[in-house]
Amino acid sequence: MGHGARHVAIIMDGNGRWAKKRFLPRVAGHKAGVEAVRRVTRAARELGVECLTLYAFSSENWKRPAEEVSDLMALLKYFIRADLDEFHANNVRLRIIGDYHALDPSAVEMIDAALERTAGNTGSTLVVALNYGAQDEMVRAMRSIGAQVASGTLAPDAISPEMISSHLDTAELPPLDLLIRTSGEKRLSNFLLWQAAYAELYFTDMLWPDFDADALGEALNSFAGRERRYGGR
Ligand code: FPP
Repeated sequence: MGHGARHVAIIMDGNGRWAKKRFLPRVAGHKAGVEAVRRVTRAARELGVECLTLYAFSSENWKRPAEEVSDLMALLKYFIRADLDEFHANNVRLRIIGDYHALDPSAVEMIDAALERTAGNTGSTLVVALNYGAQDEMVRAMRSIGAQVASGTLAPDAISPEMISSHLDTAELPPLDLLIRTSGEKRLSNFLLWQAAYAELYFTDMLWPDFDADALGEALNSFAGRERRYGGR
Protein backbone atom coordinates (compact mmCIF):
# COMPACT_ATOMS: atom_id res chain seq x y z
CA MET A 1 0.00 0.00 0.00
CA GLY A 2 1.00 3.62 -0.18
CA HIS A 3 2.31 3.35 -3.72
CA GLY A 4 -0.49 5.58 -5.02
CA ALA A 5 -1.08 3.72 -8.28
CA ARG A 6 -4.81 3.33 -8.84
CA HIS A 7 -4.62 2.00 -12.39
CA VAL A 8 -1.81 -0.26 -13.60
CA ALA A 9 -1.65 -1.73 -17.10
CA ILE A 10 0.66 -4.48 -18.31
CA ILE A 11 1.91 -5.50 -21.75
CA MET A 12 2.57 -9.17 -21.01
CA ASP A 13 5.40 -9.93 -23.39
CA GLY A 14 7.94 -12.75 -23.67
CA ASN A 15 5.88 -15.94 -23.47
CA GLY A 16 7.37 -17.25 -26.72
CA ARG A 17 10.95 -16.56 -25.64
CA TRP A 18 10.33 -18.14 -22.24
CA ALA A 19 9.21 -21.34 -24.00
CA LYS A 20 12.04 -21.24 -26.54
CA LYS A 21 14.67 -21.02 -23.79
CA ARG A 22 13.24 -24.29 -22.43
CA PHE A 23 12.93 -25.99 -25.84
CA LEU A 24 9.15 -26.03 -25.36
CA PRO A 25 6.38 -25.16 -27.85
CA ARG A 26 5.07 -21.58 -27.75
CA VAL A 27 1.80 -22.74 -26.22
CA ALA A 28 3.73 -23.83 -23.11
CA GLY A 29 4.88 -20.22 -22.77
CA HIS A 30 1.30 -18.97 -23.03
CA LYS A 31 0.20 -21.53 -20.41
CA ALA A 32 2.93 -20.30 -18.07
CA GLY A 33 1.71 -16.80 -18.97
CA VAL A 34 -1.73 -17.64 -17.62
CA GLU A 35 -0.12 -18.82 -14.35
CA ALA A 36 1.58 -15.42 -14.17
CA VAL A 37 -1.78 -13.71 -14.80
CA ARG A 38 -3.19 -15.64 -11.85
CA ARG A 39 -0.29 -14.66 -9.54
CA VAL A 40 -0.23 -11.04 -10.59
CA THR A 41 -3.99 -10.44 -10.39
CA ARG A 42 -3.89 -11.79 -6.81
CA ALA A 43 -0.87 -9.66 -5.94
CA ALA A 44 -2.42 -6.53 -7.44
CA ARG A 45 -5.51 -7.01 -5.33
CA GLU A 46 -3.42 -7.54 -2.18
CA LEU A 47 -1.27 -4.51 -2.95
CA GLY A 48 -4.35 -2.31 -3.26
CA VAL A 49 -4.29 -1.65 -7.00
CA GLU A 50 -7.82 -0.51 -7.80
CA CYS A 51 -7.72 -1.34 -11.50
CA LEU A 52 -5.45 -3.73 -13.41
CA THR A 53 -5.54 -3.82 -17.21
CA LEU A 54 -3.90 -6.73 -19.07
CA TYR A 55 -3.09 -6.79 -22.79
CA ALA A 56 -4.16 -10.37 -23.58
CA PHE A 57 -4.88 -10.19 -27.33
CA SER A 58 -4.22 -7.29 -29.66
CA SER A 59 -6.07 -6.44 -32.85
CA GLU A 60 -2.79 -7.34 -34.61
CA ASN A 61 -2.44 -10.77 -32.95
CA TRP A 62 -4.79 -12.25 -35.61
CA LYS A 63 -1.72 -12.25 -37.88
CA ARG A 64 -0.20 -15.08 -35.84
CA PRO A 65 -0.56 -18.69 -37.11
CA ALA A 66 -4.13 -19.98 -36.74
CA GLU A 67 -2.98 -22.64 -34.29
CA GLU A 68 -1.47 -20.07 -31.93
CA VAL A 69 -4.61 -17.87 -32.13
CA SER A 70 -6.77 -20.86 -31.23
CA ASP A 71 -4.40 -21.81 -28.36
CA LEU A 72 -4.75 -18.29 -26.96
CA MET A 73 -8.56 -18.41 -27.25
CA ALA A 74 -8.63 -21.79 -25.50
CA LEU A 75 -6.47 -20.41 -22.68
CA LEU A 76 -8.74 -17.40 -22.32
CA LYS A 77 -11.76 -19.67 -21.94
CA TYR A 78 -9.87 -21.90 -19.51
CA PHE A 79 -8.93 -18.82 -17.46
CA ILE A 80 -12.56 -17.66 -17.22
CA ARG A 81 -13.72 -21.17 -16.29
CA ALA A 82 -11.02 -21.73 -13.68
CA ASP A 83 -10.65 -18.29 -12.11
CA LEU A 84 -13.93 -16.41 -12.35
CA ASP A 85 -15.28 -17.83 -9.07
CA GLU A 86 -12.24 -16.50 -7.20
CA PHE A 87 -12.59 -13.05 -8.76
CA HIS A 88 -16.27 -12.93 -7.97
CA ALA A 89 -15.70 -14.11 -4.37
CA ASN A 90 -13.20 -11.27 -3.98
CA ASN A 91 -15.66 -8.66 -5.24
CA VAL A 92 -13.68 -8.10 -8.47
CA ARG A 93 -15.50 -6.61 -11.43
CA LEU A 94 -14.43 -7.85 -14.85
CA ARG A 95 -14.28 -5.42 -17.78
CA ILE A 96 -13.21 -5.85 -21.40
CA ILE A 97 -11.63 -3.25 -23.65
CA GLY A 98 -11.36 -3.86 -27.38
CA ASP A 99 -13.81 -5.12 -29.96
CA TYR A 100 -14.22 -8.55 -28.34
CA HIS A 101 -17.38 -9.44 -30.27
CA ALA A 102 -15.07 -10.47 -33.14
CA LEU A 103 -13.79 -13.44 -31.06
CA ASP A 104 -15.33 -16.84 -31.56
CA PRO A 105 -18.98 -17.07 -30.41
CA SER A 106 -18.29 -19.47 -27.55
CA ALA A 107 -15.69 -17.09 -26.11
CA VAL A 108 -18.04 -14.11 -26.52
CA GLU A 109 -20.78 -16.02 -24.71
CA MET A 110 -18.49 -16.85 -21.77
CA ILE A 111 -17.20 -13.29 -21.59
CA ASP A 112 -20.71 -11.80 -21.61
CA ALA A 113 -21.77 -14.17 -18.81
CA ALA A 114 -18.67 -13.24 -16.79
CA LEU A 115 -19.28 -9.51 -17.32
CA GLU A 116 -22.88 -9.85 -16.24
CA ARG A 117 -22.02 -11.95 -13.19
CA THR A 118 -19.42 -9.50 -11.86
CA ALA A 119 -21.06 -6.24 -12.97
CA GLY A 120 -22.28 -5.38 -9.47
CA ASN A 121 -18.94 -5.99 -7.75
CA THR A 122 -17.45 -2.95 -6.08
CA GLY A 123 -13.92 -4.03 -5.07
CA SER A 124 -11.18 -3.87 -7.67
CA THR A 125 -11.53 -4.05 -11.45
CA LEU A 126 -9.75 -6.47 -13.76
CA VAL A 127 -9.72 -5.22 -17.32
CA VAL A 128 -8.77 -7.62 -20.09
CA ALA A 129 -7.85 -6.16 -23.47
CA LEU A 130 -9.16 -8.49 -26.20
CA ASN A 131 -8.92 -7.72 -29.90
CA TYR A 132 -7.77 -4.36 -28.60
CA GLY A 133 -5.79 -1.78 -30.53
CA ALA A 134 -5.52 1.84 -29.42
CA GLN A 135 -5.87 3.16 -32.96
CA ASP A 136 -8.97 1.01 -33.53
CA GLU A 137 -10.38 2.27 -30.20
CA MET A 138 -9.81 5.88 -31.33
CA VAL A 139 -11.34 5.23 -34.76
CA ARG A 140 -14.48 3.85 -33.10
CA ALA A 141 -14.63 6.87 -30.78
CA MET A 142 -14.11 9.35 -33.67
CA ARG A 143 -16.85 7.68 -35.70
CA SER A 144 -19.28 8.00 -32.84
CA ILE A 145 -18.35 11.64 -32.20
CA GLY A 146 -18.37 12.35 -35.96
CA ALA A 147 -21.87 10.94 -36.28
CA GLN A 148 -23.11 13.34 -33.59
CA VAL A 149 -21.46 16.27 -35.36
CA ALA A 150 -22.92 15.21 -38.70
CA SER A 151 -26.42 14.95 -37.24
CA GLY A 152 -26.12 18.42 -35.77
CA THR A 153 -26.41 17.30 -32.13
CA LEU A 154 -22.79 18.16 -31.32
CA ALA A 155 -20.85 21.33 -32.08
CA PRO A 156 -17.20 20.70 -33.06
CA ASP A 157 -16.15 23.23 -30.38
CA ALA A 158 -17.69 20.98 -27.73
CA ILE A 159 -15.08 18.29 -28.46
CA SER A 160 -12.57 18.29 -25.59
CA PRO A 161 -10.03 15.82 -24.19
CA GLU A 162 -12.56 14.81 -21.51
CA MET A 163 -15.22 14.28 -24.15
CA ILE A 164 -12.91 12.08 -26.23
CA SER A 165 -11.91 10.10 -23.11
CA SER A 166 -15.57 9.45 -22.39
CA HIS A 167 -15.94 7.78 -25.82
CA LEU A 168 -13.02 5.38 -25.35
CA ASP A 169 -13.37 1.80 -24.09
CA THR A 170 -11.74 2.90 -20.82
CA ALA A 171 -14.37 5.61 -20.18
CA GLU A 172 -15.32 4.59 -16.66
CA LEU A 173 -11.88 3.47 -15.47
CA PRO A 174 -9.52 5.52 -13.29
CA PRO A 175 -6.79 7.42 -15.16
CA LEU A 176 -3.82 5.23 -16.11
CA ASP A 177 -0.95 5.68 -13.63
CA LEU A 178 1.60 3.03 -14.52
CA LEU A 179 2.23 1.07 -17.72
CA ILE A 180 4.51 -1.97 -17.40
CA ARG A 181 6.04 -3.91 -20.29
CA THR A 182 7.98 -7.11 -19.71
CA SER A 183 10.66 -8.84 -21.82
CA GLY A 184 12.89 -5.86 -22.57
CA GLU A 185 10.97 -4.41 -25.53
CA LYS A 186 10.50 -0.66 -25.27
CA ARG A 187 7.41 -0.02 -27.35
CA LEU A 188 3.74 0.69 -26.64
CA SER A 189 2.57 -1.59 -29.47
CA ASN A 190 -0.75 0.19 -29.97
CA PHE A 191 -1.77 -0.20 -26.30
CA LEU A 192 -3.62 2.61 -24.45
CA LEU A 193 -1.96 5.35 -26.51
CA TRP A 194 -4.36 8.13 -25.46
CA GLN A 195 -4.54 6.95 -21.83
CA ALA A 196 -0.74 6.77 -21.51
CA ALA A 197 -0.35 10.53 -22.08
CA TYR A 198 0.78 11.09 -18.47
CA ALA A 199 1.32 7.53 -17.30
CA GLU A 200 4.67 6.47 -15.91
CA LEU A 201 6.34 3.80 -18.05
CA TYR A 202 8.19 0.86 -16.53
CA PHE A 203 10.21 -1.62 -18.56
CA THR A 204 11.72 -4.83 -17.22
CA ASP A 205 13.79 -7.51 -18.95
CA MET A 206 11.91 -10.21 -17.05
CA LEU A 207 9.82 -12.44 -19.34
CA TRP A 208 6.09 -12.44 -18.57
CA PRO A 209 5.90 -16.07 -17.30
CA ASP A 210 8.55 -15.16 -14.69
CA PHE A 211 6.70 -12.06 -13.47
CA ASP A 212 5.36 -12.37 -9.93
CA ALA A 213 4.21 -10.49 -6.82
CA ASP A 214 7.76 -9.29 -6.04
CA ALA A 215 8.21 -7.99 -9.57
CA LEU A 216 4.92 -6.11 -9.35
CA GLY A 217 5.97 -4.72 -5.97
CA GLU A 218 9.22 -3.48 -7.50
CA ALA A 219 7.36 -1.73 -10.31
CA LEU A 220 5.01 -0.09 -7.78
CA ASN A 221 7.99 1.03 -5.67
CA SER A 222 9.56 2.59 -8.71
CA PHE A 223 6.27 4.36 -9.43
CA ALA A 224 6.01 5.63 -5.84
CA GLY A 225 9.45 7.21 -6.16
CA ARG A 226 8.65 9.22 -9.29
CA GLU A 227 7.61 12.84 -9.36
CA ARG A 228 4.70 13.43 -11.71
CA ARG A 229 4.38 16.95 -13.01
CA TYR A 230 1.82 16.63 -15.82
CA GLY A 231 3.70 19.26 -17.78
CA GLY A 232 3.83 21.67 -14.84
CA ARG A 233 6.89 22.26 -12.70
C1 FPP B 1 3.26 -12.07 -25.60
O1 FPP B 1 4.18 -13.10 -25.71
C2 FPP B 1 1.99 -12.55 -25.09
C3 FPP B 1 0.83 -12.63 -25.80
C4 FPP B 1 0.70 -12.25 -27.20
C5 FPP B 1 -0.40 -13.12 -25.19
C6 FPP B 1 -0.59 -12.87 -23.73
C7 FPP B 1 -1.53 -13.89 -23.27
C8 FPP B 1 -1.48 -14.57 -22.10
C9 FPP B 1 -0.51 -14.27 -21.03
C10 FPP B 1 -2.42 -15.68 -21.83
C11 FPP B 1 -3.88 -15.38 -21.98
C12 FPP B 1 -4.35 -14.24 -21.15
C13 FPP B 1 -5.34 -14.27 -20.24
C14 FPP B 1 -5.80 -13.02 -19.55
C15 FPP B 1 -5.99 -15.52 -19.88
P1 FPP B 1 4.79 -13.43 -27.13
O2 FPP B 1 4.15 -14.67 -27.61
O3 FPP B 1 4.70 -12.25 -28.03
O4 FPP B 1 6.28 -13.70 -26.70
P2 FPP B 1 7.59 -13.51 -27.58
O5 FPP B 1 7.67 -12.04 -27.92
O6 FPP B 1 8.67 -13.94 -26.66
O7 FPP B 1 7.44 -14.39 -28.77
